[in-house]
Amino acid sequence: MNQAPELDDPGDPYDVDEAAQAVRRRATDTESRGANRGWWDRHADEYQSEHGAFLGDDRFVWGPEGLDEEQAGLLGPVAGRDVLEIGAGAAQCARWLAGQGARPVALDLSHRQLQHALRIAASVPDSPALPLVEADASALPFADGSFDLACSAYGALPFVADPVAVLREVRRVLRPGGRFVFSVTHPIRWAFPDEPGPEGLSVSASYFDRTPYVEQDEAGEAVYVEHHRTVGDRVRDVVAGGFRLVDLVEPEWPAWNNQEWGGWSPLRGHLIPGTAIFVCER
Ligand SMILES: C[S@@+](CC[C@H](N)C(=O)[O-])C[C@H]1O[C@@H](n2cnc3c(N)ncnc32)[C@H](O)[C@@H]1O
Repeated sequence: MNQAPELDDPGDPYDVDEAAQAVRRRATDTESRGANRGWWDRHADEYQSEHGAFLGDDRFVWGPEGLDEEQAGLLGPVAGRDVLEIGAGAAQCARWLAGQGARPVALDLSHRQLQHALRIAASVPDSPALPLVEADASALPFADGSFDLACSAYGALPFVADPVAVLREVRRVLRPGGRFVFSVTHPIRWAFPDEPGPEGLSVSASYFDRTPYVEQDEAGEAVYVEHHRTVGDRVRDVVAGGFRLVDLVEPEWPAWNNQEWGGWSPLRGHLIPGTAIFVCER
């Protein structure tokens, strides 16, 4: 993939999602993967046009709070390192890593998201040529010990039914001592309505209910799936995946950020955490 794509007109891809019904029900790994690939392909254009300016073409943002890797330094030194970005979307983080002297590879399940990576590369002068890989995080197409570092900003882990399988895969492709840093929706958010205003401040569901959030079409087929894990579950997953947890960062909402992102807002961000970042070592 090294040519700027023709970003064809997707037509009206949202019909299926507009008719979708949100439920809590079980969803297998296969069903989740298929639903999410389709959803991200249909919504990549909308996502990039809505959030692209906040993400920046070559910034590494960990979540809607706006904490970036430049400030946080959670990966440690990156210059000269082989870095895998998982669920890279339009590869904004990978582009920042390349600018710091790293050798990143950007991987995503969605073809359309990766087309946006090519679009940005073609529009930004001197943009580095990034290897882009279309694949599932649960089956990484790399040899053992290929990378020094791995990262994922809200990519893959919130969407898979079996996060331990992803963690084991990441461990496999990392060299000994390698770091994997990933961010996800803070688990406490699942107890509250996903609303940015005051209605998003009252507990409406059990934090302990792990039933996935599923949007399904009229035939009951999933078109979008997110999987909930508690904080304790995530810690156990990290350990079961063969990692040592060295930090759990809960970014606070900074005064400069007055931008809402879905259910993330300054109002809620000042009161409850919205993002959890797990810093893991192999
Ligand atoms: C919220 S976006 C995050 C993208 C990017 N990190 C950002 O901050 O814009 C989630 C991304 O994860 C990708 N994704 C979802 N499930 C995946 C899987 N099983 N394997 C790889 N990527 C996946 C989606 O295609 C999407 O691009």
